Amino acid sequence: MIRRMATNPISPFPAGFLWGVSTSAHQIEGAADVREPSVWDAFTAEPGRVKDGSTAAVACDHYHRYREDVALLADLGVDAYRFSVSWPRVNSPGGLGFYDRLVDELCAAGVRPVVTLFHWDLPVTLDWLERDTAFRFAEYVSVVAERLGDRVAKWITLNEPAEHTLLGHALGVHAPGRELMFDALPVAHHQLLAHGLAVRALRAAGAGDIGIANSHAPVRPASGGPEDVAAAEFYDILLNRLFSDPLLLGRYPDGIEALLPGGPEGVESDLKVISEPLDWYGINYYAPSRVGAPQGEDIEFSGLSLPAELPFSVREIEGHPVTDFGWPVVPEALTELLAGFGERYGDRLPPVVITENGCSYEGIDDQERIAYLDGHIRALHRAMEAGADVRGYFVWSLLDNFEWAEGYARRFGLVHVDYTTLKRTPKASYAWLRDLLRARG
Ligand code: BGC
Repeated sequence: MIRRMATNPISPFPAGFLWGVSTSAHQIEGAADVREPSVWDAFTAEPGRVKDGSTAAVACDHYHRYREDVALLADLGVDAYRFSVSWPRVNSPGGLGFYDRLVDELCAAGVRPVVTLFHWDLPVTLDWLERDTAFRFAEYVSVVAERLGDRVAKWITLNEPAEHTLLGHALGVHAPGRELMFDALPVAHHQLLAHGLAVRALRAAGAGDIGIANSHAPVRPASGGPEDVAAAEFYDILLNRLFSDPLLLGRYPDGIEALLPGGPEGVESDLKVISEPLDWYGINYYAPSRVGAPQGEDIEFSGLSLPAELPFSVREIEGHPVTDFGWPVVPEALTELLAGFGERYGDRLPPVVITENGCSYEGIDDQERIAYLDGHIRALHRAMEAGADVRGYFVWSLLDNFEWAEGYARRFGLVHVDYTTLKRTPKASYAWLRDLLRARG
């Protein structure tokens, strides 16, 4: 393996800072024959939905190879591993037993389990347009907490309800493939309600250290002109504040409540549940957004087709390197994001954990990934020096995996997976992170 050392060492992080890597069940587990189907199984079965026509039926076969993957985690030297529990698997006989074994294996290896309870693989019989799904979620969460609660270090209720709403229900490019545009807003509300009910269910089961993994990105207006600024502000509400204000301030951004089921009165009591205090707040960060006024035509952006009638248009960010996915690499936007959170939420913001950060690049000698991670870890350090209370950082992802509608074409892993043989090969970035973690002493 080729290694090149960074010239300028990264400054030390505070003692107790949690270093980890993240994955999700549907993207790595495989073993689709021993779980109920999820909306993603139904979606990938439809021709043309996934770019390379693949499915996650086998994926990385982590279900059968978890011991090998835990050994990779232990060798990497991370403190914690964030994975998700698959609700459809838990619904199947013996399904929870898999997570019991995984958690035991992690504890034996000295790696702390961080559990995400929902990472987009909804049982196919359920639907987030239905309010009742939030209550079914809380029941499922109680079952998981009872079984694993004695060994789990941190809980994450939901992963990125924003993307699940936008991509899955508004634009139809993720499961369940609905194109409801603004009529998808109840999906956001029901997930947030599910989050609040799950926090209560976890606490009732005696589980602590609860957070969420919300995706956030600073939104930059395409210009200083009032139309671009207004469009960027609206986009910021839809992608960021719609999901953080209810949790941290107990209210929706102005103008949103009228669009939700039952209007402002209908959501008032739900907001009390949604804003249950959290022990920490998880942020998934990849890249900033640049947004301007509508341009009167459909826009192709990062694999998405955004219709002309949207009240904004997403623009390319120029002047930065891009990943294989075409996402710009802008580490300083992470510093900006954390500063903005501090300003907006003040002491309503609990300690933050970066629950995902990473990039897609081909190749095993992945120097670009090293540069991406190095830049973002330094940017995080700068934010902390400026006062942001951040307690952990998780790389997306341990393994190359099923990248949703992109299939296996995008590789986010520190470890390469050969999808024919399922052989794992640590990349240069894995060795780089291992060295960084060892240097902590
Ligand atoms: C998701 C992951 C996904 C990653 C890269 C995040 O939005 O939580 O499941 O693989 O981004 O696209």
